[in-house]
Order: sequence, then structure tokens, then C-alpha cells
Amino acid sequence: MDKFIIDGGNILEGEINISGAKNSVLPIMAASILNNGTTVLRNVPLVHDVITMKQILEYIGAKVEIDGNTLNINTENINKTEAPYELVKKMRSSYYVLGSLIGRFGKASVSLPGGCVIGARPVDLHIKGLKALGADIELEHGYIKSRFSKLKGTKIFLEGMHGPSVGATINVMMAASAANGESVISGAACEPEVIDVANFINSMGGDIKGAGTHTIKINGKTTFHDTEYSIIPDRIEAGTYIIAGVLAAKELLIKNTIPSHLESLLVKLNEIGLNPIVDHNNILVKRKENFKSTNIKVLPYPGFPTDMQAQFAVLMTQAEGKSIISETIFENRFMYVPELLRMGADIQTEDNNAFINGPTVLEGAEVMASDLRASAALILAALVAKGKTTISRIYHIDRGYERIEKKLSNVGASIKRVNPNQEE
Ligand code: UD1
Repeated sequence: MDKFIIDGGNILEGEINISGAKNSVLPIMAASILNNGTTVLRNVPLVHDVITMKQILEYIGAKVEIDGNTLNINTENINKTEAPYELVKKMRSSYYVLGSLIGRFGKASVSLPGGCVIGARPVDLHIKGLKALGADIELEHGYIKSRFSKLKGTKIFLEGMHGPSVGATINVMMAASAANGESVISGAACEPEVIDVANFINSMGGDIKGAGTHTIKINGKTTFHDTEYSIIPDRIEAGTYIIAGVLAAKELLIKNTIPSHLESLLVKLNEIGLNPIVDHNNILVKRKENFKSTNIKVLPYPGFPTDMQAQFAVLMTQAEGKSIISETIFENRFMYVPELLRMGADIQTEDNNAFINGPTVLEGAEVMASDLRASAALILAALVAKGKTTISRIYHIDRGYERIEKKLSNVGASIKRVNPNQEE
């Protein structure tokens, strides 16, 4: 298993180009199943989760070709409606094929994804929404199965205990796009990735209105047409490099972003005196010796994203004063804290809060990545730590960040990927 070795303390300078959004491209690849034809996707991030979704599409009989950052998908010869456990267990987002397979074929068999390190992550809302549309869903031997679904438009309230669900909103929106008649999803998630999937489905002939608000209206269609579509930039990747910049850069220009998608982070950075400069699609950031601490409460979009809280916690270890980070969406998202403690951070956790005292001098150490965003946080900590940090289990980061070591070393970081067998 590869590791990263990072020598901390380098001053970063230059430009980083943001890739397409992982959380958009995965459901969009799944939504391509709705059409019996070809889809061309541009600005696709070459991350491991995209390869896993490619394998799922190929397993069911689609053809998927990667050409640089473009994907060509042909769904004419799909001959299976099953997503097996071996593939689904690699990536929870595999369940996105449920909505599109039921939408196009009226049947699907998709392994239940199971929990993951950040929490239980149930799929009850996905099932509730699909059942409301008329899907005959049974749970059998760890699989969600549908045999003879005839989807009919209806009104669905999708909000759950932890607020709206991005995944359930998208899955139900995909199925409703192929249902007979009009559907209204209320309590829908408003994340930019939901809008991107709706725009994609509309680009192949769908009729979805209101994506990005809590109420989405969908006029079901029986046929779709071929399309070419470009994926929006990844706001979490951009946010991660913005934090790298305010921690360690003389000047770092983050290019190809949609700044409005990063509003909650940019507002917080302004509040603590780190003043990012926004110019069209670019964001310029630089480090400052002293900056204030602040509190963060994670909330669904447009609130502060749960996918940015670990990276922001690293920033708070360098801020002056106490800060509290409250996680409200996932129950177990402080797995990175013990690793930061090993690097010298002063953090206590209690329930869903992390209490951070800053500033602390971080020191390089051997640490282990537990999940995708925790890995990103450890890289950020290593960039400002004294000495050498070795991060193991970096396959987590490869799931969602395109060529992170290349992007960071291009702007002056000392980061190299090693295979333990080749390690000195
Ligand atoms: C997506 C993102 C993930 C992000 C999360 C929250 C993708 C591929 N992943 O995950 O990066 O951290 O949104 O912004 O887009 N819930 C239920 N029942 C359900 C579904 C969800 O109770 O059927 C709960 C979840 O456990 C969680 C909350 O609802 O507490 C929100 O989860 P959800 O928005 O569904 O997250 P994902 O779509 O899995």
C-alpha cells in the first residue's frame, strides 16, 4: 500500500487547477443509464471512485472509455441490472445505479452498501422515495431488489432525521425522471451536485425544475437522447487547496472554481482575517502570521460542508484562541483527531464537538488516514508541520482527489508517494 512522505515547512506559491466534482460525476455516470445511447462527459476527475463506477457500468454491459478527462459511455447493450457486493463495497455511491436501473428497466438488484467509518449511513430514504414512486422493493440476502417496478409520478417528502439527503434526493430524482407523470420531491437536498445531476438529465431531454431548492418538480419522460455534458468543479477539492494556501502559501491561485459554491468557507476565512480574493472563477489566498479562531457548525448546503470540517480543524490548530467544530451530519467524523494529537495538536472531542486550542506547533509523525477527508486534513497538517510526516492508507485520498501529490509539488510542497517496498 502506498504512503505519502511529506517534509513540512515549504512555502507554497503558484496555481492549482481544480478538477471536476467527484460527487457530481458519480451520479451523472449512473444517470447516463437512463438513456439508451451515448453520453460524453467532460471535466471528469480521474479519481479512483470514477474507475469503480466505470467498472459497475461495464459489469452491467455498458461501454465506458476514458480519454483524458473525457468519458464516453455507451449504454445500448446493457444486459444486467445487478450491482454486486464486490463492487458496491468499494464505494457507497454505487447505489446510484438503483434509481437509474429501475427508471430504465423497471428492475434492479443492488447490494446494500453497509456502514462506513464515518457513520452508519442508512439508505432508508432512498428506499422510501423509490417505493413512493411505485417501485416494488424487497430486501433479500443483503440486496435491494426490484423486479417489476412501474413508476408513477407522486409527491414525496424526503427529509430524514439528519436533514435532507444528497444521495436519496439524486437517486429518487433519477427514477422520477423516467416515471409516468409529475413528481414533486419536498425536503430535497440543495447541494450544487444535485443541480449538476438535474442539469445533466435535462441535457438529455429530462424535465426537472427547482433543483437547488428544497422542492424539485420532475416531469417524467419515457425516452432520453444522447448528450455531451461538462461536470462542475469540485468545491471540496477547491476548499482543501484554499486551506493549504492560507496555511502555507506566499500566494496560491486556485483556478476553475465556482466561488458561490464555497461561500460558507470564504465567509469564515474573511471573518478570521484570512481574506481570500475572488476574481471570477479564481480565488487567491495567502498565509498570515496571526489569525483568529472561529467556531464552525456543519450543516447541509448552503451551510458549512461536513466534507470540509476536518481540513478546517487543521486550520484552527494554527489560529489564535479556542474554536469549536460541531459535526451534525455524520456521527463519527473525528477519526482524524487522534492522528492530529500525535502531531502535537491540542484537541478534545466530546459527542459531536471538537474543541481546539491554538496555535500549536505541529510536528511530523507517522499517521494513518481513516477516510477521504481525514486524509486531506492530514496532508494539510503535514504541510505546516516541522519535519517529516508519513501518511499511510492513502488509497482513501486516491478515491477523491486527482493527482494531489502532483498538484501540491507543482506549487512547492515536498510530497512524495512511496511504495513501502521501495522506501529507504
Ligand atoms: C453525500 C456526499 C458526501 C457528503 C454528504 C453530506 C456523495 C457521493 N457523497 O453523501 O461526500 O459528506 O453527502 O453532504 O455525494 N441518511 C439517512 N437515510 C438515508 C440517507 C441518508 O438517514 O437514506 C442520513 C445520513 O446518514 C446522514 C445524512 O442523512 O446523516 C445526510 O447524508 P446524505 O446527504 O445522504 O449523504 P450521502 O449522499 O451519502
